[in-house]
Amino acid sequence: MQLDVAAIRAGYPALADGYAYLDGAAGTQVPAAVIDAISSAQSTGLGNAGGAFPASHRADEITAGCRSAIAALTGGEPEGVVLGPSMTALTYRFAAALAAAWRRGDEIVVSRLDHDANVRPWVQAAERAGAVVRWAEVDTDTGELPASQYAGLISDRTRLVAVTAASNVIGTRPDVPAVTALAHAAGALSYVDGVHATPHVPTDVRALGSDFYATSAYKWSGPHVAAVVAQPSLLRQLRPDKLVPSSDDVPDRFELGTLPFASLAGVTAAVEHLAGLTGEGSGGLRERVLTSMTAVQQYEQQLFAVLVAGLESMPKVRLYGRASSRTATAYFTVDGLTPRAVAEHLASRKVNVWHGDNYAWEVTGALGIRDSGSAVRAGLVHYNDASEVARLLAAVAELAS
Ligand SMILES: Cc1ncc(COP(=O)(O)O)c(C=O)c1O
Repeated sequence: MQLDVAAIRAGYPALADGYAYLDGAAGTQVPAAVIDAISSAQSTGLGNAGGAFPASHRADEITAGCRSAIAALTGGEPEGVVLGPSMTALTYRFAAALAAAWRRGDEIVVSRLDHDANVRPWVQAAERAGAVVRWAEVDTDTGELPASQYAGLISDRTRLVAVTAASNVIGTRPDVPAVTALAHAAGALSYVDGVHATPHVPTDVRALGSDFYATSAYKWSGPHVAAVVAQPSLLRQLRPDKLVPSSDDVPDRFELGTLPFASLAGVTAAVEHLAGLTGEGSGGLRERVLTSMTAVQQYEQQLFAVLVAGLESMPKVRLYGRASSRTATAYFTVDGLTPRAVAEHLASRKVNVWHGDNYAWEVTGALGIRDSGSAVRAGLVHYNDASEVARLLAAVAELAS
């Protein structure tokens, strides 16, 4: 199944500005279909939720559609999709709800590979509860997060294991099913950060064994909305702080205040956009999105092989991470230059990349690069093409030769 990348690119108005957008890991551009869905939701009368009139019904329908779309993207159930403003905000919310049951001497396991949003909310909640924090370490040579270490980290005192499905800097995709199986065998829950993984690979929350799976739509062509996907039965067991008159249903009880309905319409359009990327695949939204994301993964990996080979051929470039399974995310430094200086040079060549720790606080510390500005991140998504990779390599070669 092939991607027609030229046709896909034509659907993204922002890509016409001549820049190579290799900053997708920090947020993708959005296609016209998403912009139109947001705009049309707002230009048709839109009321608040739960009312007796059509404009309110539209808000309810948009919300239900968004939950169904995210369930289709992740393999979850619509009633288990909790919506919120960002993964960080939702994770703090779940940390507070889960930690209410933690007692002194309980344990949690976090990893050095994770974005800080799947570390600090748990560490801070554990500190408040008097729970012990155990750390899964990264092999700094390979960038792997070996699943084997979890057997020694998880015990019958473990309440929660937080782990990422992919590193947002070095791309490593740990063996999440192995980690979550160990967590479950010990009676612990798993919270999987899917923010970086979701745009790059087909997602199946059941196969991952995630009790909670977090994702952010702005990383996969949608607006700034995030979701946590969990089993509705699990959500029913939790009692987050909430206002007295607000709904006590699941998943609504986890959502604070009024949802951004127009943006939710954009999220649904983004999932439909992903599902249509190959222009092929039959069946429902879930089947089509799996077909598309399989093609996306294959396409990105082919392009990434060219990017990695090009960077590796430059003696002054140092590339971090070489995990056996990783997303198309390159993290590198150029001898004698700060990551910021490299990013500024690339910007002058119309290539957008990120520099710095990108909130991958622990892993940049473990790699020993955080104090010197960390590294430059060039990430590929489905709308990037070979000419953009070539432009990046030519621009880095100007510095590294
Ligand atoms: C892997 C990963 N986790 C979590 C986050 C935080 O997501 P949000 O911006 O939705 O809070 C990011 C954002 O860059 C990320 O890349």
